[in-house]
Amino acid sequence: MFLQAFLCICFLSCWPLATLGGYNRVSGSPIQGKTCEREMYSPVVDMETIVSLCKRRGFIFQSSEIYGGLGSTWDYGPLGVELKRNVKEAWWQAVVRERDDMVGLDAAILMHPDVWEASGHVTNFTDPLVDCKNCKQRFRADHLLEGYFQKEHSLSLDDVKVKVAAENPGAAAAGHLEMLQSAFKILNGRSFEWGKFKCPECEGPLTEPRNFNLMFKTFMGPVEDAAAIVWMRPETAQGIFVNFRNVQQTTRKKLPFGIAQVGKAFRNEITPGNFTFRTREFEQMEIEYFVIPGTDEEWHKKWIAERRAWYERFGIKGENLRLREHDPDELAHYAKGCVDVEYKFPIGWSELEGIANRTDYDLTQHATHSGRNMCYFDDATSEEIMPYVIEPSAGADRSTLAFLVDAYEEEQLEKDKRVVLHFHRQLAPIKAAVLPLARNKPEIVEVARKLAADMRLSFSAMYDDTGSIGKLYRRQDEVGTLWCVTVDHQSLEDNMVTVRDRDTMRQERVPIAGVKQMLKDRLEA
Ligand code: GAP
Repeated sequence: MFLQAFLCICFLSCWPLATLGGYNRVSGSPIQGKTCEREMYSPVVDMETIVSLCKRRGFIFQSSEIYGGLGSTWDYGPLGVELKRNVKEAWWQAVVRERDDMVGLDAAILMHPDVWEASGHVTNFTDPLVDCKNCKQRFRADHLLEGYFQKEHSLSLDDVKVKVAAENPGAAAAGHLEMLQSAFKILNGRSFEWGKFKCPECEGPLTEPRNFNLMFKTFMGPVEDAAAIVWMRPETAQGIFVNFRNVQQTTRKKLPFGIAQVGKAFRNEITPGNFTFRTREFEQMEIEYFVIPGTDEEWHKKWIAERRAWYERFGIKGENLRLREHDPDELAHYAKGCVDVEYKFPIGWSELEGIANRTDYDLTQHATHSGRNMCYFDDATSEEIMPYVIEPSAGADRSTLAFLVDAYEEEQLEKDKRVVLHFHRQLAPIKAAVLPLARNKPEIVEVARKLAADMRLSFSAMYDDTGSIGKLYRRQDEVGTLWCVTVDHQSLEDNMVTVRDRDTMRQERVPIAGVKQMLKDRLEA
């Protein structure tokens, strides 16, 4: 959560080694590498293969590509937008529609600037940066130190933390940068001074670290002065907190209950990269679940189990998921505890979703800053309660990437190889492709087009006659289409079509009149 959480995704081992060891330039290209997890493994697929498949087949394109692209922003193409919509829909279905204790919300991206003062983002949502006085490059101060420990002492971030916890428990509980500076003293027997570090690019002198706020700033109205500043929301959560009373009073929900929201968030990330894993504009799927204080830990556990199960329900293999509890120095300023659901991405184990116990921090802050009552009135006891909040906060882009990676398989067949995306049936962008065996035979084309049009009324279906049947099967497998339905010469006589299953590749002959209903039943099974 927040910037400390980013430390676990610092890709230490793959940074180029320079004066300070591994480092990351603010203006540099996306970092490739793995997370603080040191374990080596061979992913089923590497990120380049996924990026290339996404571009080739229209899942994801680089934003503004014809102008050379814009740093770490991505556009979802025809298949990508379907896939991501299905991911968001699967989430909404599980956390809102299937539950009696949850409702939805769609709040504005631009909010009153006081919201971000109250939430602590103006003060705390920062990364420490140092500048080179010579070449003017900018670096994350903590990344420089972590790279230094890796290079000079062969210590990972986890090793450093263990050392500081053993020798200076006070420093271990301090902020991350303070903890790293204290580690320097423990390991070298002298105090840390930025003035003695050199720029990893040009060996020039570095400035002291300064906090850089990750929120994008803009102006509301025609005058660009301080009074007109508004922020692009860095999390959707605050839209939920400020609407807590509106929602509770209009729905008459009793504690415990939750509010869910899907929407864009913006962060001026210093180290974006690894495709859609870390970007500056992304979509979140967030839940704020309001509970009676004292029941928060029990609900935290329930939501952790619930959210992990959701990824498996929609097809992620259990062995590619794990839970990781945050160390105290990683916790966001509002959190009492946090557990990440991590996925084994090609870049290593990395956060998919954070499930935090936000206590009553946000509602209390908004009550103080707005002067409004943010409590819940308990009719039974006539008590005003400031609820505690459990927050399962997932990324729609990161989840979509995980579903893509997990679905990917290269299968060796008898004569050739096929790439197949084994998407869960609810997530597959195209459910059925109707293929005419002979595209120059108008009667066959007509039956196929009519069938595709009819299927489209019930689920996503397409007509495709752009290649031989073998090629079309491979192309549909590669984008995860569940069924290929072939209309052939025989169909004109017996009114039957061949349905081929993506995963088993088994084919069956089915009456045209019943094929749509059969596939619909299978989708809903
Ligand atoms: N409201 C809490 C919150 O925003 P977070 O851990 O900072 O917590 C939640 O973000 C989720 O949002 C992450 O688990 C991740 O899936 C997604 N996310 C955060 N920053 C992101 C980024 N720069 N690019 C893509 N996804 C991001």
